[in-house]
Amino acid sequence: MKVFSGTANLPLAKKIAQHLDIPLGDVEISRFNDGEIFVKYNENIRGTDVFIVQPTSPPGDNILELLLMIDAARRASAKRITAVIPYFGYARQDRKDQPRVALSAKLMANLISTAGANRVLTLDLHSASIQGFFDIPFDHLYSSAIFVDYIKEIKLENPVVVAPDVGSSKRAGAYANRLHAELAVVDKRRSAPNKIKTGTLIGEVEGKNVILVDDIVDTGGTLCVAANLLRKAGAKKIFVACTHPIFSGGAVDKIQKSPISQIVVSDTVFVPEEKKREKIKILTSAPLFGEAIKRIHNEESISSLFDS
Ligand code: R5P
Repeated sequence: MKVFSGTANLPLAKKIAQHLDIPLGDVEISRFNDGEIFVKYNENIRGTDVFIVQPTSPPGDNILELLLMIDAARRASAKRITAVIPYFGYARQDRKDQPRVALSAKLMANLISTAGANRVLTLDLHSASIQGFFDIPFDHLYSSAIFVDYIKEIKLENPVVVAPDVGSSKRAGAYANRLHAELAVVDKRRSAPNKIKTGTLIGEVEGKNVILVDDIVDTGGTLCVAANLLRKAGAKKIFVACTHPIFSGGAVDKIQKSPISQIVVSDTVFVPEEKKREKIKILTSAPLFGEAIKRIHNEESISSLFDS
């Protein structure tokens, strides 16, 4: 088994390799003068079980880098290539809900398979049905394995789990089950991508401590609209568990000024120093990915990782 990393999130890949007690593989990723990407494995990978760690968060070069790494590994006769995609980007367009739009999630699946990946490992897909866009084995991990112990540690009394939109209700429901808490949902309405018009709360939060659960924090709009609505509805503390910290534009300052008391995110997407704020806590997903990689390599069960 060998683990290689693209350039999107080297710290996470290093932690995964540490968990597996192996060194990160040696791969050269450089640029031609015009910005095109050059990939070369600097060690023999013939007959090897290769794992390539690369989240496909923006910029788009990250997905290209992943495809080139898969292609190079296939041409170097790796025995099996697993694309380890901690954050699967371009997932939010997963159905044709308006005329003349792209189905980016399906296109990403086609590209990854065509490049030569034999299997995919990822965490908290925007929509679980994206797995069906692939005709290769797909292992889908859940962030509850990273966040639930921490949420239990902070001992929120009288908790209610809230989904900030209907799409997140299944994920939030799983958290509610594991935390033995009630569930409420915000019916979010958008006027355009990344622009939220209104939200309506379905459920009871008055006098309760809220755990708001989402997969992606991009502009922070979804979480802040939900947090304001919850505060108006009488919620006490508003705690957020959100898997993928994209934090675009002024998201971190918007969150810092919002009624959210703390947001816990994972390290699937690299958060630079200038985006770190007091309210943001980052928990690593490396042991979860490391364990899943070990189990894939040893042909062991992944689902048993989630037996509570
Ligand atoms: C949308 O359906 C996702 O689950 C997230 O709620 C959304 O992508 C967050 O985006 P933003 O932070 O820009 O509101």
